[in-house]
Amino acid sequence: MITTDFLIVGGGIAGLRAAIALAPSGRVLVLTKAAATESNTGYAQGGIAAAIGPGDSPALHAADTIRAGDGLCDETAVSVLVEDGPRDVRELVDWGVGFDRDRDGRPALALEAVHSVRRVLHAGDATGREIGRALWARTVGLHSVETINHALVTEIIVEGGVARGVRYFDSEGVEQEARASATLLATGGAGQVFRETTNPGVATGDGVALAYHAGARVADLEFVQFHPTALNVPGAPRFLMSEAIRGEGARLVNSAGEAFMPRYHADGDLAPRDVVARGIAREAERTGGPVFLRLTHLDPSRIRERFPTIADMCRQVGLDLATDPIPVGPAAHYLMGGIDTDEWGRTSIAGLYAAGEAACTGVHGANRLASNSLLEGLVFGARAAIAMLQPPSAAVKKPDRVEAGGSGLEAHVPGPQPSVSSLDITVVRDLMWQSAGLFRTREGLTAAARTLDAAYAALGDLLRQTRPTGADWWRRFNLLTVARLIARAALRREESRGGHFREDFPARDDLHWKVHLVDRRDFYGQ
Ligand code: SIN
Repeated sequence: MITTDFLIVGGGIAGLRAAIALAPSGRVLVLTKAAATESNTGYAQGGIAAAIGPGDSPALHAADTIRAGDGLCDETAVSVLVEDGPRDVRELVDWGVGFDRDRDGRPALALEAVHSVRRVLHAGDATGREIGRALWARTVGLHSVETINHALVTEIIVEGGVARGVRYFDSEGVEQEARASATLLATGGAGQVFRETTNPGVATGDGVALAYHAGARVADLEFVQFHPTALNVPGAPRFLMSEAIRGEGARLVNSAGEAFMPRYHADGDLAPRDVVARGIAREAERTGGPVFLRLTHLDPSRIRERFPTIADMCRQVGLDLATDPIPVGPAAHYLMGGIDTDEWGRTSIAGLYAAGEAACTGVHGANRLASNSLLEGLVFGARAAIAMLQPPSAAVKKPDRVEAGGSGLEAHVPGPQPSVSSLDITVVRDLMWQSAGLFRTREGLTAAARTLDAAYAALGDLLRQTRPTGADWWRRFNLLTVARLIARAALRREESRGGHFREDFPARDDLHWKVHLVDRRDFYGQ
């Protein structure tokens, strides 16, 4: 057994920012599931938003964040994000993050959808990788921080209602225990729940599954962001084609070469992500052909210089980013929901904290503003560290967090449960893409929830009898847990808002649904 002062699960921006803040106050253990640098952070292309440019202000950044969030942002969390953001980003610059500069030596700022000014700091088209590099470089220099890679966390230890650490399998497959007075879940997202995703293989929603199984509240899981423009080449990964490309003037065109987005939204190619994602899917269905990003009217050398990673990826599949039409389509990108936390990363279990994509402060509402995700990890990672230095306490549940169980808002899944002894992960991912993806209906979600409930129950039975050691088993268990929660949450919310679109309830309904719905394990009794 390892005993430490502070335990952090996850090595992305939120976890590392917290580790750096905690290092002067005690021993910090960082557990990462794969190689140290493999996280969603490393795949973030566009950049990090912060109100530092001319004509910008935290108030304007807040207004844009709230506009993108489609009426559901937690405005206290938004204020924290936009107020702390500029200071925390300047600190990154001091720590050696190499953001691109303009001719005057100031950070160059990019434009992305729904930002009313240029606000996005970037390092080429690999901003997350550059931030991760600088944070790891700083972390390895801190003698009080120890890192264990290839640690597969399977359980949060809760004793007397307080989190005391985790159980995990080490790289040899041996079960270990790490105990600490404060445990932070900074495990990132869950894009792998869906067949089409921009996320790396590690994004399996582990933090949400762990917290849920420990009895913590999870919230807003129906809100998944589908990025409109993932590379859509058969057999190639759904590589992200950054929104910053459209910010630089690229157009979305249909197979007849027509720029179609103005027909779907007044803001055209830079409409909110959920609108553009659905616009692309509808246009592809209407025309029966693919949709492309077209950059041929832009300066090719500027494009190749500004987006070298993306240009390289295109080259690998035989395309020239600057001169060829680039086939694109939507893919799961970001989970707005997650472990319910306050603005200090406190969860509903004392001693357990969450930050970054794994957490749900409500800051993104129903749809995240572009480039607010790295900022979220940075700001709320730092704040969680401050809370972790205090005696353990649980977050107070906010009035607009409504417990779904017993509220009349439970998801009803009528009909017989199919007999499912196990479900292959590709089947789960297909099912989620078809039934809980861009377009959702009661019928599709009910059928999906029924299947996922049955498969989840079967894995739960197995877990009660044995203690599976294989990484694949836990990956499947976590994915299934999160998939089921997403499907049930999507079934419950009978309106459309942000990333959640119900074909049978296509309008936003503030009268009934302007709330964050919260789940806990007890509701479902398993
Ligand atoms: C992008 O570059 O389009 C993605 C950045 C983000 O998800 O905010």
